[in-house]
Amino acid sequence: MASLAEIVRKQSRLTLAEIVHLQRLVASWNMLADFCFSDLLLFVPVSGLRDVSEGDGEFMVVGHVRPSTTQTLYRHDMIGEAVSDSERPLVTRSMRLEEIIEGEITVSAIRERVRVLCIPVRHDGRTIAVLSRESTPSVGRSPGELERTYVDIFNRFARMIASGDFPYPIDDSDSKESPRVGDGAVVLDRAMCVEYASPNAVSALHRMGVHANTEGMRLGELGLDDEPVVDAFTVAKPVTQEVERGEVIILLRCIPMLDSQGVSGAVVLFRDVTEVRQRDRLLLSKDATIREIHHRVKNNLQTISSLLQLQARRTGSDDAKSAIAESVRRIQSIALVHETLSREAGEDVAFTDILRPLVQMVAEAVSSPDRHIEFEVVGDAGTLPAQVATPMAVVLAELLQNTADHAFPSEGDRDRPDQVRVELAVDDAGIVVRVIDNGVGVPDGFSIEEAEGLGLSIVRALVMSDLGGTIGLFEPADGPGTVVELRVPIDAIAS
Ligand SMILES: Nc1ncnc2c1ncn2[C@@H]1O[C@H](COP(=O)(O)OP(=O)(O)OP(=O)(O)O)[C@@H](O)[C@H]1O
Ligand SMILES: [Mg+2]
Repeated sequence: MASLAEIVRKQSRLTLAEIVHLQRLVASWNMLADFCFSDLLLFVPVSGLRDVSEGDGEFMVVGHVRPSTTQTLYRHDMIGEAVSDSERPLVTRSMRLEEIIEGEITVSAIRERVRVLCIPVRHDGRTIAVLSRESTPSVGRSPGELERTYVDIFNRFARMIASGDFPYPIDDSDSKESPRVGDGAVVLDRAMCVEYASPNAVSALHRMGVHANTEGMRLGELGLDDEPVVDAFTVAKPVTQEVERGEVIILLRCIPMLDSQGVSGAVVLFRDVTEVRQRDRLLLSKDATIREIHHRVKNNLQTISSLLQLQARRTGSDDAKSAIAESVRRIQSIALVHETLSREAGEDVAFTDILRPLVQMVAEAVSSPDRHIEFEVVGDAGTLPAQVATPMAVVLAELLQNTADHAFPSEGDRDRPDQVRVELAVDDAGIVVRVIDNGVGVPDGFSIEEAEGLGLSIVRALVMSDLGGTIGLFEPADGPGTVVELRVPIDAIAS
């Protein structure tokens, strides 16, 4: 469906500021529909007829809201509907006379008599649209107190719309969260004392421990934090704020009503958000718990590698020493992932956040005064879920270690620096990782599928079986060296 701004821009000649005024009205008119128990339609004069007094005006409906306090008159959305002057004479009159006009008409779209209240929408001294309250003609039933009070409030807002005081140019509300009339409404008089509290508002106050009769009292006197109310009266603008009392958290929205003498009272809407906030807090603490667990796993892995190192020191066999050293290295690469995850908010981790410390770990292990390998990482592969990040870290640690162990066997007699580059990329199928060195290359007849070393066996098992990916090994286009290319399909990453 086209937005209000789109329709208005196409169909009428309103200025940007005027369109914004209408958007603000529509953003806050749920409350108005609820107070008047009616559908509200917003009519804008259609292009060319900006000055309605010139002749037979045509209007278009650019906004429609239904009340949540009663049933709607219009089952179809009325937005985009064009109406002629003869069909809607009251809209034209209200626009031309700049007055609130009441009457009854027959609406052809629903073939029914409809009671309408047309309110000119004023902005910056000019009437730019007409807001129409549409309800079924009342049939003799006398309204109750709640209904009378609400309709009275609606009429006060209607006068503010006609004089350009509503909608407010500044409103702090987030319409998704903001309380509705049905959540609980309190009407305050000029002196901030309670004139009326709806049954739901009374229940909300009860939950907050206010059992006294509220009438004639200020919210502050009832023991509530009335700062938002005082603020709203002082600045004559709506103020929305959460107030807490005991276990209960209430989202309180105070909308002042203005007349010629300033703030003449206010509507305070209440919404109990205790459960919502408790859930938010629980989620936050769950997140913190997960991070704490990663932290502990990392610590435990470090303990394991320290124990292995102790054992290595006690053994006389060089073979055993180097086997243990390799295990320590593998454990540390897994610990790195948990360390990174313990710092992340979610269960996803940026690939480069894991890769950087891994590269550093290998670089530190191999570098010595007479040996230097340049490591570099290029590209990006986005984020990975934890269950993919761990095998990927182990695999990359193996490949980087292999470059250090095998690619550059003889020292000092090469005419170019020893270089290792890790390239990351994402394509339609998944992520692509290449570990490229400019070393001596693999031995003749070497095949990655049949290589018997533990390192590449681990790489094969993790990439092919666990992640469902592929491994390729070839010589780089620009000369000697080795490229190991891993492709991990998107579903392994997404799952
Ligand atoms: N970047 C490389 N450059 C040259 N040769 C390599 C490279 N990567 C692997 N190789 C060759 O592949 C063989 C198998 O590697 P693999 O990692 O499986 O075992 P390893 O490194 O010998 O032992 P381990 O990893 O268990 O310590 C290596 O011995 C080496 O000959
Ligand atoms: Mg190896």
